[in-house]
Amino acid sequence: MKDHSPEAPFRGITLLSDREIEAMRPACRLSSQLLDFLTPMVKPGVSTLELNDAAEEWTRKHGAVSAPLGYPGPEGAIAFPKSICTSINEVVCHGIPSKKDILQDGDIINIDVTPFYQGYHGDSSRTFMVGNVSPTARKLVEVTEKAMWKGIEAVKVGGRIGDIGAAIQEYAESEGFSVVRDFVGHGVHRIFHTEPQIPHYGVRGKGKKIRPGMVFTIEPMLNVGTYKVELQSDQWTAVTQDGELSAQFEHTLAVTKSGVEVLTCMPAAVAV
Ligand code: MF3
Ligand code: CO
Ligand code: CO
Repeated sequence: MKDHSPEAPFRGITLLSDREIEAMRPACRLSSQLLDFLTPMVKPGVSTLELNDAAEEWTRKHGAVSAPLGYPGPEGAIAFPKSICTSINEVVCHGIPSKKDILQDGDIINIDVTPFYQGYHGDSSRTFMVGNVSPTARKLVEVTEKAMWKGIEAVKVGGRIGDIGAAIQEYAESEGFSVVRDFVGHGVHRIFHTEPQIPHYGVRGKGKKIRPGMVFTIEPMLNVGTYKVELQSDQWTAVTQDGELSAQFEHTLAVTKSGVEVLTCMPAAVAV
């Protein structure tokens, strides 16, 4: 998220207590369950508005609120008008669901959800392949997911924020993809977007120290061509400057004394 949100003046990194991290779990669990719920709908012929409306209904039914809906934009922009972000093909992030956007065989689509529940946000996204996608699209999606995990594995108490971006960038570029610079991971808890910013590129050993109690997202966007993006006239939809594909995955995670915990991952189901 760009550092233009009205929340930006609340400076400083909040360290959450174990109890507060506990209190975030339900919101984070909902974001994972919501993505699971939407997964079977992601098929050729469905509109992104249908995905949005299903997500909104599911979210309300679970007693939560869709944090993106009405989220304030930069100066002069409208508030975000829908409940989820749906970013197809060359859309990097913040695509606005629309009945005109109908999924087609071969598309890739990122769905980004953020339920707000019991005072906390759970922010997560996945990129889905619609039907048969090109080998390049498949590789981009697979490398992007793996890049997110490399970033998560680089989170170590006493390490630096720069370690995360370095791990992501090294891997992404070694696979021939570029890393978007204009949007970064972010602190997330009671506030949707706050300190620290987590770039998905950078230099090992640089940046703020990683401490227990930090809760933030890692949400790399990888492009087939240039890392440069531009905003469409709606002031939200970010697209690649060269029109090539972009993919993204996102988890919310907590740093604890013993390491890192991915809050938006469901624990493995227990068979009874
Ligand atoms: N969920 C997005 C993120 O990962 C933010 C969406 S803000 C919205 O940070 F207003 F575009 F919905
Ligand atoms: Co986020
Ligand atoms: Co998100």
